[in-house]
Amino acid sequence: MIGLFDTGHGGLTIYQALAKELPQRNFVYFGDHANAPYGMKPAQEILELTKAAIEMLFGINENGGCRLVVLACNTATAVALRTLQQQWLPHSIHSDKRVLGIIVPTVEVATATHEDASETLAVFGTQRTIESGVYEIEIHKRNPKAKVIAQTCRQLAGAIENSASENELEQLVSEAVRECLQKTNGAAPQRALLGCTHFPIVEHLFRKHLPQSTQILSQGAAVADRLIDYLQRHPEFAQHEKKRQDLFLTSGDAQRVSRDAARFLGVSLPFETALKNTILN
Ligand code: DGL
Repeated sequence: MIGLFDTGHGGLTIYQALAKELPQRNFVYFGDHANAPYGMKPAQEILELTKAAIEMLFGINENGGCRLVVLACNTATAVALRTLQQQWLPHSIHSDKRVLGIIVPTVEVATATHEDASETLAVFGTQRTIESGVYEIEIHKRNPKAKVIAQTCRQLAGAIENSASENELEQLVSEAVRECLQKTNGAAPQRALLGCTHFPIVEHLFRKHLPQSTQILSQGAAVADRLIDYLQRHPEFAQHEKKRQDLFLTSGDAQRVSRDAARFLGVSLPFETALKNTILN
């Protein structure tokens, strides 16, 4: 079982790409809807919530849970991944397990597939992701010539979580795009990266407001590509059990989450309530 964690619905955009490319793998998805959004929370709180979610996925049943967890969340990756990988996991009872993030895989694919090294690349993300500077750092490691325009979308993930109307969502997207284009003096970025897993849910609105020539990158496809490569290099994470129905857990109201997932992703996913005490104590 591969565990996937996001603060809410957003990681389902990563789940969909992974389930498509790795159809024989079993996935357990956990959305911490009760605590979403994380994007403006203090870093320490994001770290603690992310660690609690990973521990829950590691121990999901008495036979042992997921040995591999992917943080299907840019905010958790930007704020918590490195600390958890370096300071917690190796010294914990879970030292044989692994936690992976989604920012480096996304940047690896984005920088490997473009010919114009001096391109302007817009990155949209939550406040904590953009403040961390991690996208600029990782992009410039691989392509120092790229011009990165990092744009915070403060309320957007929360509005998606709160099932805001299409009009409200459009207003938030158009504001973010307008601020981004002010930074380029109106020039169209060659490419745009939706660096929050909630944002592909409203990709049609980014498409509508970004210049026509701006290509929108798919984070789900990039993460799937890199995860396939990782699994080939790490046979210790081979799956021995048969393919079963994937599991969808939430710390929130399972009925509401299933309904919102259907609205935003057009699929019916039977969410169940996770062990609240484990997550929220
Ligand atoms: N979906 C998350 C991300 O990729 C976080 C959104 C939030 O909870 O603010 O950044």
